[in-house]
Amino acid sequence: MKVAIVGAGCSGMGHLLSFEMYAPGSVIAVCDPDRSVFDETLANFRRSVEGSSDPYMKTIGTLRCDLEKLPFYDDFESLLAHHEIDTVAICSYCCTHAQMVEIAVRHNLNILLEKPVAISEADVERIWELLRNYPKVATVNFTMRGAPVTRSAQRHVADGDLGRLVSVQYINNVHYGDGYFRKWMRTRQKIGSLFLQKATHDFDIINSILRLRPQRIAAFGSRRVYGGSRPNDLHCDECPDKWHCPQSSFVLKFDADKYFPPRRERLCVFASEIDIDDNQTVIIQYENGVNVSYSQTFCVPHGAAQRGGIFIGDAGTMKLEYYGEYVDGPVGKSHLDVYRNHAKPDSVIHEVHDWARRSHFDGTDYGFLAKLALLRGEKTEIANSVKEGYISAKMCLAAQRSIEEGRVIALDLNLRDDSQ
Ligand SMILES: NC(=O)c1ccc[n+]([C@@H]2O[C@H](COP(=O)([O-])OP(=O)(O)OC[C@H]3O[C@@H](n4cnc5c(N)ncnc54)[C@H](O)[C@@H]3O)[C@@H](O)[C@H]2O)c1
Repeated sequence: MKVAIVGAGCSGMGHLLSFEMYAPGSVIAVCDPDRSVFDETLANFRRSVEGSSDPYMKTIGTLRCDLEKLPFYDDFESLLAHHEIDTVAICSYCCTHAQMVEIAVRHNLNILLEKPVAISEADVERIWELLRNYPKVATVNFTMRGAPVTRSAQRHVADGDLGRLVSVQYINNVHYGDGYFRKWMRTRQKIGSLFLQKATHDFDIINSILRLRPQRIAAFGSRRVYGGSRPNDLHCDECPDKWHCPQSSFVLKFDADKYFPPRRERLCVFASEIDIDDNQTVIIQYENGVNVSYSQTFCVPHGAAQRGGIFIGDAGTMKLEYYGEYVDGPVGKSHLDVYRNHAKPDSVIHEVHDWARRSHFDGTDYGFLAKLALLRGEKTEIANSVKEGYISAKMCLAAQRSIEEGRVIALDLNLRDDSQ
């Protein structure tokens, strides 16, 4: 495998480190107009492995000594002009995904694309047309798909434990929601909306559990907390309100021991460029009359973090709680409870899924290994297909359109030749 990473930020470096651990030596070049996160991440990772006494990490986490010298380019085309690669991980800003996919298709590459597929209706359709019958591997990175609790929820419904599905109530209350407003993700131009940034995962999870086609969507959204008239380049560090502002990164660390982000992510959350909603509520009608309500909000405290849903059928009810017993960072245990209509009142199938410090509820690594399997030509149940990415992105776009036009939107999924 000869892999290139496009976008060496948080996700790109996650991909690079995963390749190093599970397919060492396969990444041969990287591109990003800014290499600061690349250098910082490698230095931090090396330090953490060196300081670790865990023999497993010492074995798989030891990076090749010349990794920092990987050929590094400003842009994808320059990288391709210098290297023969067969696979690309596209991890740049969401607004660049469509352009990167087009380049990758021109070069006939395997494509590991970050979600969302793209951020405009035209680009999402364009990417779908390019990739729907693509002869190479093409995936969209829905990291929670690989989480053992997700897989188990899918199995319970597929096995008929809930009977005929009736409705779903799903919530995502994001305890690190301010983070989206402290960095580039705070404008429509770069991410489209927080539907495409965040809910796209949840819509995909719901779709994968229900295995039904969404048909109509209605949504409301507003911005109640973030945005304003402060300068776009103002950081908490230089702000005169650094120690008074309730949204200051310094105050939140001091008062609530919240995660203190790197400087590049300490921009003022009251900046004038902020134009995305910070809370959205959606209702979705699926085929067979299954109804789903969904809500995401980006200002809840740590202890109120909530992600998951209640799936109700005529024979049982399933509660999926990604943050079942949440401690901190990647530490916690997801819960899955299945109650059956014909079981005695105190009978419940109670499952606990320990993340064991792995990210995305233990989904990232399993998802990555599934992609490696696809690249080797093997089958996997965690396919993260472009079709799934397409459907989820179309739902996000429809929800945003519903907010803007104040009406129910019928989903026009272009799946004419595809079975699902
Ligand atoms: N699957 C997941 O769970 C998950 C989690 C986080 C982010 N993401 C996705 O990953 C992507 C990147 O997000 P992130 O959190 O890593 O952001 P980030 O800011 O940490 O990294 C993005 C990087 O892309 C670079 N970049 C921008 N334009 C580029 C271009 N034209 N060519 C090459 N590089 C370019 C930036 O300089 C930056 O270093 C987004 O699409 C986001 O939606 C997915």
